[in-house]
Amino acid sequence: MIYAANLKCNHTRTSFANYAEILDDFILKNKIGDEILVFPPNLAFLQGDFSFTLGAQNFYPCINGAFTGEIGKEHLDEFGIKCVLIGHSERRNLGESKDLLKAKFDFAKQNDYKIIFCVGENLDTKNAGKTKEFLAKQLENLDLKYKKLVIAYEPIYSIGTGVSANLKDIKEILAFLRSKTSAKLLYGGSVNEKNIKEILSLNECDGVLIGSAALKVENFAKLIKG
Ligand code: PGA
Repeated sequence: MIYAANLKCNHTRTSFANYAEILDDFILKNKIGDEILVFPPNLAFLQGDFSFTLGAQNFYPCINGAFTGEIGKEHLDEFGIKCVLIGHSERRNLGESKDLLKAKFDFAKQNDYKIIFCVGENLDTKNAGKTKEFLAKQLENLDLKYKKLVIAYEPIYSIGTGVSANLKDIKEILAFLRSKTSAKLLYGGSVNEKNIKEILSLNECDGVLIGSAALKVENFAKLIKG
């Protein structure tokens, strides 16, 4: 299974260093064989050899250059980061266009990064019965055969609300995504101690992307341990 923690705009370098140390210790002591990914804020990246994969919540598709406020490949390289999150709804909301997402995807692919590509519909789209159509559009023009691609289904109405999508919907959408790609599939959106088992038991579910419930390292460890 894949357990991914998206820390969003939380944790400083100091608090994340503590998080990383505890998580690393937990993984080693418990001989966790699952794949653990952690996405801290860019400024909290750490140098070091961890038993989890450090990923970037954001980057700009460039090596370096005149892109004020962005970070490029050179900055990821300094921390050995080769895993990136693309298409999270919170970044789409900030204005990341489909063209930019495609440029990020292609750049990440070109550099052999693992890509966690997020898709998800809002409640209006779901209620209109247009989820599949919408998700197909979000995946349009992307190389769904890329071997280091992971797709995270994160319905927007379930992110940070404390209420995950219902199991039947998750199952149906993961099956739909599976019909389009053999990439690993994650579910994200209010995954917590109460619902993680049933979500992970779904046939097409290869793991979870966790926000709030992974903010404290002890909670994230509990979710991994099951
Ligand atoms: P959440 O966030 O677990 O707090 O809903 C998930 C995400 O945004 O990836």
